[in-house]
Amino acid sequence: MTAVGEETTALRAPVGTKDVLAPESARWEALVAEFARRAELAGFGLALTPVFEDARLFHRGIGDESEVVGKEMYEFADRGGRAMALRPEGTAPLVRAFVQHHPPVPWKAWYVTPAFRYERPQAGRYRQHHQLGVEVLGTDDPDMDVEVIALASDLYAGLGLRRVELSINSMGCATCRGAYVDALRAFFHEHRNELCDEHRERFASNPLRVLDCKRPACVAVTEGAPRIVDFLDEPCRAHLARVRAGLDALGIAHRLEPRLVRGLDYYTRTTFEFAALALDAAQNAVGGGGRYDGLAEDIGGDPTPGIGFGIGIERLLLACDAEGCFEVRPIDPAVFVVDVSGGEAARDLVHELRVAGIAAVRAYDDRSMKAQLRLADRSGAAYALIVGPEETAAGAVTVRALRGEGEQRSVARADVVAYLREASGAGVAS
Ligand code: HAM
Repeated sequence: MTAVGEETTALRAPVGTKDVLAPESARWEALVAEFARRAELAGFGLALTPVFEDARLFHRGIGDESEVVGKEMYEFADRGGRAMALRPEGTAPLVRAFVQHHPPVPWKAWYVTPAFRYERPQAGRYRQHHQLGVEVLGTDDPDMDVEVIALASDLYAGLGLRRVELSINSMGCATCRGAYVDALRAFFHEHRNELCDEHRERFASNPLRVLDCKRPACVAVTEGAPRIVDFLDEPCRAHLARVRAGLDALGIAHRLEPRLVRGLDYYTRTTFEFAALALDAAQNAVGGGGRYDGLAEDIGGDPTPGIGFGIGIERLLLACDAEGCFEVRPIDPAVFVVDVSGGEAARDLVHELRVAGIAAVRAYDDRSMKAQLRLADRSGAAYALIVGPEETAAGAVTVRALRGEGEQRSVARADVVAYLREASGAGVAS
């Protein structure tokens, strides 16, 4: 209800969000189905968790130093006064579900979810975006890292993308990372006057964030910064080597990128990112992930290693547009029912056909025969089923092919479903 005096201008979707309608949505459907198929072939089961969580999950799990939690999270008090947050990503909620339900390990879950981040909207960067992802809990076997990375890599290739580049790095573990962070802090301290305004003040609390900063000043300084790969202890070094050897064995090209730290603070050991070179460099990450061997413990569970990735659906589809691949057309109806006998026949026939598994559409509002036939032609249907007073009297339907010669014949009303099922090349599902 509009309150007295309130304006009645039409409302729009919030800034930074997008409506996805047909026919574009057919691509989303096909993409999710393709991802589900691949994930399930690899032993992942679908996990559905709430879009809002206790805000402490993200503060503890991802870290307040991260932009995602510190600056971008949608937080609110619910009507009971509880601090809630819309999920900014999918990993912490899945680890929370794992800790809560204790499924047998290794637990392999896939998901498709909206994620909410209060970002500055631009092409490829939204306040609600959507991710396809997987998480595995309960093993630190480097072969699992290879399996997870291969799943994403095979998806890109399967969609037809040719220009996707994989970078990988290791964030080390709690032991070796400490020494590295100290060295990095000392390095940035020496170069503090060359850092961007924000990091000149803030580098000391989490120097890793500076490596992720895209501002030219920080990018230039970090060129000469210490590299974490030079600080890895023996187990972390061996882990990285085994992951890289596995990728090589599977023919997955990759590049070691020692400055890849990613924007979330839970990562340990393997981190990786896929960049679509056909997109503008600022928003070309079409997926990323890594290990988070301390996350379950950080949110109150038993120590449990984990690894996963998230793929941005919108960005992935932008990359497909840029490379001219993965074009998906909505499925055409098989049949358009044209009814000029009052509409009851159309009402009953479309229902009967749909129950029989035949995609059927019709016109409404008592249109003329000519108008209905025009709609039938445009609908993409293979057949028009025409019902007029003559057909009604004869207990029949006129079936007209809408493609080719436009042949037509009279079919008994009771035989229509069987006739359509038999008709060859009609695109009629049985
Ligand atoms: P992330 O890198 O923050 O990682 O996001 C994953 C992907 O989501 C990005 O590579 C990008 O494709 C897409 N994305 C992120 N933010 C936006 C945005 N504002 N607009 C459009 N697309 C966006 C994670 O979220 C981790 N949870 C991934 C992970 C899973 N790590 C381990 N397991």
